[in-house]
Formats: sequence, structure tokens, C-alpha cells
Amino acid sequence: MKKERMDMTLKNGEIWYDTQGNVLHAHGGHILLHEGVYYWYGENRLEDIYVSCYSSTDLVHWTFLNHVLTMRSPARENRVRGDLKLTNQNGGRVNIERPKVLYNEKTKQFVMWMHYENGTDYSCAAAAVATCDTPAGDFVYHGSFRPYGHMSRDCTLFADSDRAYFLSASRDNADMHMYLLQEDYQNVEKLSGAFWSNEYREAPALVKKDGAYYIFSSFCTGWAPNQCKYGRTDCLEKGFGLLRKVGDETTYHSQPAFILTVAGTETTSYIYVGDRWDGRDYHNSRYVWFPLVFHEDGSAKIIHCSEIEIDAVTGRMEWVECER
Ligand code: GAL
Repeated sequence: MKKERMDMTLKNGEIWYDTQGNVLHAHGGHILLHEGVYYWYGENRLEDIYVSCYSSTDLVHWTFLNHVLTMRSPARENRVRGDLKLTNQNGGRVNIERPKVLYNEKTKQFVMWMHYENGTDYSCAAAAVATCDTPAGDFVYHGSFRPYGHMSRDCTLFADSDRAYFLSASRDNADMHMYLLQEDYQNVEKLSGAFWSNEYREAPALVKKDGAYYIFSSFCTGWAPNQCKYGRTDCLEKGFGLLRKVGDETTYHSQPAFILTVAGTETTSYIYVGDRWDGRDYHNSRYVWFPLVFHEDGSAKIIHCSEIEIDAVTGRMEWVECER
């Protein structure tokens, strides 16, 4: 279905289109800011596609760039990984979820981490890595693996000032693991922490504000939304403390994808980007972008709004709040 270009407001829960008028498919994804351009990577399950990439400078108009990971993606010989094919034993699709991309200054490479499954029962529970020299080129697949043998499902990446981390749900989702990445971001260097044993947190999303780290996550109810909770710490290695509720019992009908930081000339804004999944028709899944406000006492609030307007230059945002 095609539509004319959108105006300057993002309307939560509606179908969003790219600048060519095609439905925007970047589910469970991540936005990377690189040299003044925002790149939105996310799941696309149409045809032979796994991950698509769009770009924007105003955070409203998204231009399709490339299907950066597909069933035909080239593979790199790599001794530390198992599979090197992005197809299953029958040549069919595997399942790639929650792709996240960071830029590595040392290697000048874009590094993607994702959740990999080669069947429908989620028993594979592996992480996979791919790299590219450009933000939206054809990523080269490095294979999938379980970090130190641990199950690894819903995941995220987080770049701190000096090092980067991969976080994923482990032990059948019971625990959240955090791995320090090697300096090239292409492998894990150590298991830095395991948090919230038996809490079954999924969909992790991390953000840093004024020296404090906040991690948002959902509970495990498949495609059905549930209560988002967050933890806060001033040191990643110490753990994230108590889980605190944020938003309502369905997180306004969404599950975290990532937290977007917009550092403008006047202010820095934080946006909770969530997926509003359609479990019966995956391709009908939508997005929500909600303002995320941090209070001085260390608490966080997700503002339920029907639409949001972000000024990518000043960093200011406006929204139409939902009544509840
Ligand atoms: C969710 C998870 C999604 C997807 C879904 C499948 O809990 O966050 O990424 O795996 O389950 O049911």
C-alpha cells in the first residue's frame, strides 16, 4: 500500500511509509546516528529479506537504502562461529530478530548483532554477527553462536564512552546477561554480569543520561504487550538494582525496541521506541515513539502520546498526550 509523504508528525500506531511510499519495515530495530545521519535498521520478513535500513536527517522522512541482510548475504570464513549460511537445512528462511548496529571507530566498520533462530521453536537461542564497511551496504555474515555456551535470545547493543556491550536474555529468558565486547565489537570478551535471575525480562533497551544508565525491558509474553520495567545504575558492572514499573500494564500496547537519544542545539531528548506487534499478521506490526522523561530522583516516565514531533536540530519535541 502506498501513500503520499508524511507531514512532520509521527502518528503512533499508524502504518508508516518511507519516502517512496512503501510501508516501512524496521521492526525490533535500532537507530544509529553516524556523521549527522540517522540510520534505522530493523526486521523485515518479506521475501528473502532479514534486515532493512532507512536513513533520515529529520527523524520523520525515512528513505529506504538497502536490504542490508538477506538470505543471500555473503559469509565470512570465521573459525569462532558455527553456521555461515543465512538459510536453514532446507534452504529456507532462518529467523533474525532485534538487529542492532554500532559503528566501530577502530576498524571503521559497522557491526550488527542480532538474535538468530533456525527453527520456529526458539530452541536455537543464539546471537549472530555481521559487518559492513558502510552503514547501508551488504552486510557480511559472520555466523551465529551462543556466547560461552549461554542461550541468547532478545538482545541489544550499547556503546559506552570507551567500550561496548551486548545484552541478551539467557537461560530460557530467566536471566539477562551483559557481555563486554572485544574492541572490534565482533565477539564477546567477557561475561560482565547476569541480572535479575528468574525475572524473565526480554526486549532490553539501554540508554545513558547524565552519567546514569537506564535499562528498559518487557516481561515474556510473546507478541502480546506487557508491563515495561526499568533499572538504573551509575556503574554497569554493579548491576541495575531494583526493577521499577514504567508506563501502564501493556506499556501502552508496545514492547521496547530501543531508546533514541536526540542531542540537539537546545536540548537532549529521549524517545522510547516500541514495537506494537501484530501477532496474527506480523507485517501489520506498527511503531510507537513516546517521550521518555527522566526525573531528578532517578525515576523515568514514558509519556503516552498519539503523535510526536521531534526537531532533530534543536532536540526539542512536542506531542499530543493521550488521556487515560
Ligand atoms: C517476543 C520477543 C520478540 C519475538 C516474539 C515472538 O517476546 O521480544 O522479539 O521473539 O516474542 O513471539
